[in-house]
Amino acid sequence: CAGHIMPLLYNGTVFCFTSLHRNHVTGGRCSSKATITGKTVVITGANTGIGKGTAQELATRGGRIIMGCRDMEKCEAAAKEIRGNTLNPHVYACHLDLASMKSIREFAEIIKKKEQRVDVLINNAGVMRCPAWKTEDGFDMQFGVNHLGHFLLTNLLLDKLKESAPSRVINLASLAHIVGKIDFEDLNWEKKKFDTKQAYCQSKLANVLFTRELAKRLQGKSTGCCICGHVWEGVRPMFLFVIGHWIYIFKTMLCVRVCVRV
Ligand SMILES: NC(=O)c1ccc[n+]([C@@H]2O[C@H](COP(=O)([O-])OP(=O)(O)OC[C@H]3O[C@@H](n4cnc5c(N)ncnc54)[C@H](OP(=O)(O)O)[C@@H]3O)[C@@H](O)[C@H]2O)c1
Repeated sequence: CAGHIMPLLYNGTVFCFTSLHRNHVTGGRCSSKATITGKTVVITGANTGIGKGTAQELATRGGRIIMGCRDMEKCEAAAKEIRGNTLNPHVYACHLDLASMKSIREFAEIIKKKEQRVDVLINNAGVMRCPAWKTEDGFDMQFGVNHLGHFLLTNLLLDKLKESAPSRVINLASLAHIVGKIDFEDLNWEKKKFDTKQAYCQSKLANVLFTRELAKRLQGKSTGCCICGHVWEGVRPMFLFVIGHWIYIFKTMLCVRVCVRV
């Protein structure tokens, strides 16, 4: 019996500590009740995951939401679901394949022609740890989609964002950027053995560097740029007990929210 008490005490203490400090460490849940009626948000990769959750939340707050996704069937279905859940009819699906410069240019043209303003651009789409795939234009898939695609899209929409000031660009980075290295001699993994983990980290570091530079260049232009370093996806209490709270602790300790604002 005594053998069980120590681990129980230890686990209990760590669990209480991390629960109490969760908000501090992760940045907590957004408590703002702000609405965004009249504002247009463009969000990439919004048919699933964080992108879909963000699109739904912003639609609830009254925004006009343009979801840019590569699979139109999934995108239309997600847009329809969000419209139904939020009763906001202004949620639209639009084709965007970030692995194709042609598709990015076409998407940007449509936005520039059809939308009166772009108040927020959320560069969310991402591929993680895929094999050594290449984009249509021959770039490493993770670098191409996660960084280059969003880099091009942001630059193509920059004038629109400036016209709509105060506006904001939000780039979804990752804590993985900490161990990332930019290999300027071989960005596309052609001279060395492909390492999918490192390729992801490199792409996420590129997100961070791009965001910092953009924030610097946009200073004084009423157009801001911020990095979302880690998004807490709301692990449910039941899940905690099922797989063991230590995973929760580990994740909580690693959650860092980096925000660069101008
Ligand atoms: N989840 C985390 O804990 C975490 C942590 C740190 C950072 N992040 C970052 O947060 C972002 C979203 O992550 P997530 O977990 O929500 O990912 P996810 O569930 O895998 O969703 C990724 C989205 O990106 C889309 N996408 C992939 N390739 C694309 C392309 N070529 N063109 C257009 N869209 C494309 C996917 O479309 P399909 O459905 O068609 O594949 C999907 O909609 C990513 O940038 C990721 O690096 C996530």
